[in-house]
Amino acid sequence: MRLLQRWKLNLNQFFIFGIILFFLTMVLKFISLDYDPDNQNCDLSSEYCKNIYYQDLKLLASGRKNCSRIIIGDPDEVRKTQIDNLIVRNRRVLATDRDYLQLTKDCANFKKLKKYVMFSLSKEERNYPIAYSMVIHDDIEMFERLLRSIYMPQNIYCIHVDLKSSRTFLEAVKAIASCFPNVFLSSKRESVVYATWSRVQADLYCMEDLLNSNVDWKYLINTCGTDFPLKTNAEIVRALKLLNGKNNLESEKPPAYKKRRWEYHFDIKDHPVQTHIKKNLPPSNIPIFAGNAYVVLTRDFVKALFENPTAKNLMEWANDTYSPDEYLWATLHRLLEMPGSVPNHIKYDLSDLNSLARLVKWDELGGDMEHGAPYPGCTGKNRRQADGEKKTSTTAYTTMRPTRTEKI
Ligand SMILES: *[C@@H]1O[C@H](CO)[C@@H](O)[C@H](O)[C@H]1NC(C)=O
Ligand SMILES: *[C@@H]1O[C@H](CO)[C@@H](O)[C@H](O)[C@H]1NC(C)=O
Repeated sequence: MRLLQRWKLNLNQFFIFGIILFFLTMVLKFISLDYDPDNQNCDLSSEYCKNIYYQDLKLLASGRKNCSRIIIGDPDEVRKTQIDNLIVRNRRVLATDRDYLQLTKDCANFKKLKKYVMFSLSKEERNYPIAYSMVIHDDIEMFERLLRSIYMPQNIYCIHVDLKSSRTFLEAVKAIASCFPNVFLSSKRESVVYATWSRVQADLYCMEDLLNSNVDWKYLINTCGTDFPLKTNAEIVRALKLLNGKNNLESEKPPAYKKRRWEYHFDIKDHPVQTHIKKNLPPSNIPIFAGNAYVVLTRDFVKALFENPTAKNLMEWANDTYSPDEYLWATLHRLLEMPGSVPNHIKYDLSDLNSLARLVKWDELGGDMEHGAPYPGCTGKNRRQADGEKKTSTTAYTTMRPTRTEKI
C-alpha cells in the first residue's frame, strides 16, 4: 500500500515536470524561431515551419485577375486582363536599378518583402545542391524575379553581368547578391556579342568560379536573363537524379545550312562577319552536333572542360566561328571521353523538344495541334526569332496560324 502511494506521488511529480518542460520548450521555440529569414534549419516536417512558409508564399494578382484562368488560356479572362492593362493607372512601373539599391540596404527586409524561401524545403533537396550560371545584361526586375523563383539556400548562383551593362545595373546586381551567401558575381566579365565565342566564355567564367566554390553541387544549369522556371526545385532535383549521371541537352546531326558556321573563319566586331577563309577540320576530326546554349551538365563534365585536352582543343578551334554556343556543348556531349556524354550514334540524338534544359517555342513550332504542331499558335507576340536564318521547315503539320501581334 505504502509502496503504491509512493509510486503515485512520483507519477504526479513526473507529470507536473513534464508539463513544465513542455511549456518551456514551446516558449523557447517561439523565442528562438521567431521568424528568422536566415534560419536554414527550418524543416518542412515541422508544422510551425510549414505555416511560416505558406504565409510567406501567398501570391495574389492585383485587381480582379484570376491567374489560374489566364494560365489555362481562358479567352474571357485573357481579354479582361488585356483591357485591364490598357488602363494607365493599372500599369505597374517596373522597379529600377536604384529601387533595388535602396531595397537591399536592409537585406532581411528585402528577403521578407520579396518572399525568398530561406530554408530547404526537403531533406532530399538540401542534400542535392544545384549550380546556376546566369548570364544577364539588363532589366533588373526581370533578373531579380528569376533569381527569386529559383533561389534555394542550398544551391549556388553565379551571375555574369555583361561588360556593356550600365554601372547602376551592375551595382544593383551586386547589391542583390550581397544579401545572399550563395549568390555571387563572376570573377571575370565579358562583353557578350550575339552569336560569338563571348557567349560561351561568359558561361565558362561562371563554371570555373562555381567549381571553385565550397558547395558540393551535383549538376549545373545555365540561364539567360529572361528565363523563368517551369518546375519547382524539388521537381528539378528529381529529374536530375533520374539522369543517372548523364548530361541532358539538345544534340542532333546538324542541318546542312548550319555547317558554314564552323567551316569559315568569322571576324568579330560588333557582330560576327563571315570571311572567305576556310577553317581546318575540327581537332581529331570530332563530329560536330547541333544544339543550343542552354544545358544541364554534370559536375564532372564541367570539370573536364578545364582539364580534358580534346575539349580544350575544340574550344580553342571554335573561338572564331559563328554561334559556338549552339554546337559546342552539343558536340562535347557526344564525345566518349567527356563525363556524362552519350555515344555519337544517331540513335542518341536528342531534339530541343525532348531535352530537359529549355522550352523555346519558336514561331514555326506553334500551329494547329490537331495537325501535329507541337504547340498551339502564338496568341501574343514573338519577341525573338533570328530573321537571317529561318529554319527550313521540317514540320509535319500543315496549317500554321499567322503570328498575331497584339501584346498580352
Ligand atoms: C479562379 O478560377 C478558377 C478556375 O475557374 C477557380 O477555381 C478559382 O476559384 C478562381 N479563383 C478566384 C480567386 O476567383
Ligand atoms: C582563340 O584562341 C586563340 C589561340 O589560343 C587565341 O589567340 C585567341 O585570342 C582566342 N580568341 C578568343 C576570341 O578568345
